[in-house]
Amino acid sequence: KDGYDFVVVANRLAVNRVTEEDGSTGWQRSPGGLVTALAPLMAASDGAWVGWHGAPDETLEPFDHEDMHLVPVPLSAQEVEDYYEGFSNGTLWPLYHDVIARPDFHRHWFEAYRRVNRRFAENAAAVAAHGSVVWVQDYQLQLVPAMLRELRPDVKIGFFNHIPFPPPGLFAQLPWRHSVLRGLLGADLIGFQRGSDATNFQRAVHNRLGYYVDEDRIHVPTETRAHDEGSPLAGFDADADRGTAARQEAAPDTGSARMVEAKSFPISIDTETITELAQREDIIARAAEIRRELGSPETVLLGVDRLDYTKGIRHRMKAFEELLQEKKLTVGEACLVQVASPSREGVESYQLLKEEIEQTVGRVNGEFDTMGHTAIRYLHHSYPMEEMVALYLAADVMLVTALRDGMNLVAKEYVAARQGDDGVLVLSEFTGAADELRQALLINPHDIDELKAAIVKAVKMDSEDARGRMEVLRRQVVSHNVKRWAREFLDHLEEL
Ligand code: G6P
Repeated sequence: KDGYDFVVVANRLAVNRVTEEDGSTGWQRSPGGLVTALAPLMAASDGAWVGWHGAPDETLEPFDHEDMHLVPVPLSAQEVEDYYEGFSNGTLWPLYHDVIARPDFHRHWFEAYRRVNRRFAENAAAVAAHGSVVWVQDYQLQLVPAMLRELRPDVKIGFFNHIPFPPPGLFAQLPWRHSVLRGLLGADLIGFQRGSDATNFQRAVHNRLGYYVDEDRIHVPTETRAHDEGSPLAGFDADADRGTAARQEAAPDTGSARMVEAKSFPISIDTETITELAQREDIIARAAEIRRELGSPETVLLGVDRLDYTKGIRHRMKAFEELLQEKKLTVGEACLVQVASPSREGVESYQLLKEEIEQTVGRVNGEFDTMGHTAIRYLHHSYPMEEMVALYLAADVMLVTALRDGMNLVAKEYVAARQGDDGVLVLSEFTGAADELRQALLINPHDIDELKAAIVKAVKMDSEDARGRMEVLRRQVVSHNVKRWAREFLDHLEEL
């Protein structure tokens, strides 16, 4: 056997380490939608998953787990700082999310990013069978497609960007913009969440590299030209990034070109699992128990997010606080449950956000709590999917107020869990999900008055209206699950 037929490359490995009762450690498949969608494909087609196992300064041998071959990529503590916390989450994440936080540009961060991306590419190249399909995931690994193509021209390469792709004017700030574009263009198919993300990418490619773009197809010249500096990897040299003269208008019919397709494939969730959980007696009972634990308010409002500044948690709390001040809502009658799962705690902007949210919760609760009731029940934890579904069932109104979000799967999870076709989703128009979930109460989270009005409308909505909306939303989510997403992307890649 010369390798694996289907290789997924992602920053995070598809398994998490778990400690058994006897103190020994083992591995457990990650609960996320991506892993759930791809695991059956891996089992069916001899698959391998290349990713970081999460522990700095630790090297692990490849191993098998539940029909999957796992290839742990080691990162030193310094690389975690520079590649993961630094370039991925201190530069790219804020830049790609509309600079909600200020991106920092550091040359040594990018150096680490390039070095680590090469390590991922080499590991993928080492396990991919001849003519296999390699699917690279997300913004942490944008240089991998071109690096892999140079190492293994025989494989089909897909890339999927799970987060937004910024408008050309913002992307242009990135000192290594050409490297990133050339890195991505090593793929045969580049998937984005929204049509506008694909368009942003195509415009960046056209503006910066001058390549001809025809519908979703980008003509990438294969001839060596002086300004291409000879090698497909030339773009990874700092010089090539400075060389903005590298513009060319490659007409579609001159010279030889490789076609790269860039289009949208909106991701989804594992609806079957959520639907099953939402029907389980114990989970339904747990939902009722949660409401009792909250003091049986008439309305439970819910927010569920990674504790991230893109999620608009402050805006949501501000709106809720003003509604309490104006007595449009009262404590006891309404309660906001905010689950904020810990995330990227080594990054300063996340530490600052955590402090700010904790202060806000303290202030609001200090002012409005009564002996028996709390205004905001703030939970800085992550919970298993069983508990999350119970929460979704317990919540009358789901608040998704992200300032920018590639998709937002929480919105889809809430919809999938609402079997009774009731409950109201308030959804930011700046999420990918808003393209599909048109029956939600769509809001601009920066507009606090609009957000407040939507919350009041959601709380007061008559059940017929709510059911009508939720029925349409549920049909949309249930018919577009994450397995269909993976199949559509991979089928398209095979066809190219
Ligand atoms: C987003 C990104 C993922 C990332 C996840 C959790 O959804 O698109 O690539 O894995 O956040 O963030 P973390 O930094 O903990 O992997």
